[in-house]
Amino acid sequence: MSDLRRKLIEADQAHAWERLQRLDPGKRARLEGELLRIDFALVQRLGRLLHEPAVSSTARRFEPPELFPLRRDDAQLARAREARGVGRELLRASQVGFVLVAGGQASRLGFEAPKGAYPIGPVSATPLFAFHAHRLAAAALRYGVRIPWYVMTSPANDAATRAFFTQHDHFGLVHDDVFFFAQDVLPALDEDGRMLFSAPDALFLAPNGHGGCLLGLTSSGALDDMRRRGLRQLSYFQVDNPLVRPADELFLGLHAASGAGMSSKVVVKRNANEKVGVLGRVDGELACIEYSDLPAELRDAREPGGELRFRAGNIAVHALEVNFLERLTRGGLQLPWHLARKKMKVVDPDGRTVERPGVKFETFVFDALARSEASVVLEVERSEEFSPVKNASGEDSPASCRADLCRLFANWVRAAGLPLPPADECGIHPVEVDPLCAESQDEFLARRGIRPDVRDSGHLYS
Ligand code: UD1
Repeated sequence: MSDLRRKLIEADQAHAWERLQRLDPGKRARLEGELLRIDFALVQRLGRLLHEPAVSSTARRFEPPELFPLRRDDAQLARAREARGVGRELLRASQVGFVLVAGGQASRLGFEAPKGAYPIGPVSATPLFAFHAHRLAAAALRYGVRIPWYVMTSPANDAATRAFFTQHDHFGLVHDDVFFFAQDVLPALDEDGRMLFSAPDALFLAPNGHGGCLLGLTSSGALDDMRRRGLRQLSYFQVDNPLVRPADELFLGLHAASGAGMSSKVVVKRNANEKVGVLGRVDGELACIEYSDLPAELRDAREPGGELRFRAGNIAVHALEVNFLERLTRGGLQLPWHLARKKMKVVDPDGRTVERPGVKFETFVFDALARSEASVVLEVERSEEFSPVKNASGEDSPASCRADLCRLFANWVRAAGLPLPPADECGIHPVEVDPLCAESQDEFLARRGIRPDVRDSGHLYS
């Protein structure tokens, strides 16, 4: 106890000691256990960040990144052909691992369960996790390999995520190939750097951002597992996008053939105000600039041809070399901290729930781009690869995502001359293609003798 008291006082957290003294023995033991797990040196470092002035964006030099574009010249077409071969070989040789980040709280969506459990399939109501699992299972079949999948949860949704996978028999994947790990949490602080509480006997703990997956992969033993399996590259993606194509030969091949540590996929921004980060160079280093950090004059800047100058929208799909991950995390992860200031429901020393301004601290995985000597930024077609579920309604919602899925699948079905169900009043044909059946139009067209499962909700090709 006296050791904890000393630590708390040294870290300017004496208020936590005072709170402990007011608790009954059961609650005191609980809070004590939590406090003993806190890295106070880190909390102090985070506290100091509260008073550091933000670097003014006018002091920085922003430039668009070099893209590997969708419209390719002859040299790029040749490079793409070669890269596909490289990617195919990596996949065939079982040298690619898959990393899903699913630790977020789905607060904007207003969904209580883990976001991956959200029933997104427009006809089948298949959950997001199943979309991803089926794509990986399809890749395992295509290349005749086992596919290791590292799934990052957070303490708040870890048990529910694991239970969901178990309930669905891991969506047909080999159980030993799915590796769960929970990201770390950090105490939220008030503006004076003092830890906040979410209950009389509990700190207000928040996930450390998706950058936490880099350390989590190392500390959980996932990196050792990758070494045992002989993996060389990782394909990283977010839980919210059912169109993501994690086993993309072109992307993995371009990344590996360029000797890149970390690479990214982008889509052209829909408009200047779309809420995605943009890839760009900041003072010469590759970065993702969040929409909230992009100065308005750059957000709206146009090329002479009329397109947005900063249009490389981040879809949060990255390739990482396993060696790069290891270098990055050796001796602790050194990514910059991002501060999220918001009003938080906290519990005061008298046990009352009150709203107070607080600060959460996160690291972002894309900040590792600056640490990679070489990178590829590959432009992909939005309609084929990006339709995230973020909000309860409007843009990037379940409704917009289901409509995007139906539009894409209807094109494939039409191209194959197969039956489509009638369109609804918005012109959307309720049709779905299970990724196990095909993940691209070419693969769909190559299917022989396929017929839809006709349901009340629409046609399902599986
Ligand atoms: C994110 C990107 C944005 C990009 C967009 C594309 C950030 C800061 N911004 O925005 O540049 O254009 O995706 O869809 O990431 N997650 C964790 N643990 C955490 C925090 C998040 O696992 O501590 C996961 C979430 O489960 C989710 C993903 O990371 O899968 C993205 O997080 P979210 O907060 O939804 O980012 P966006 O604001 O949507």
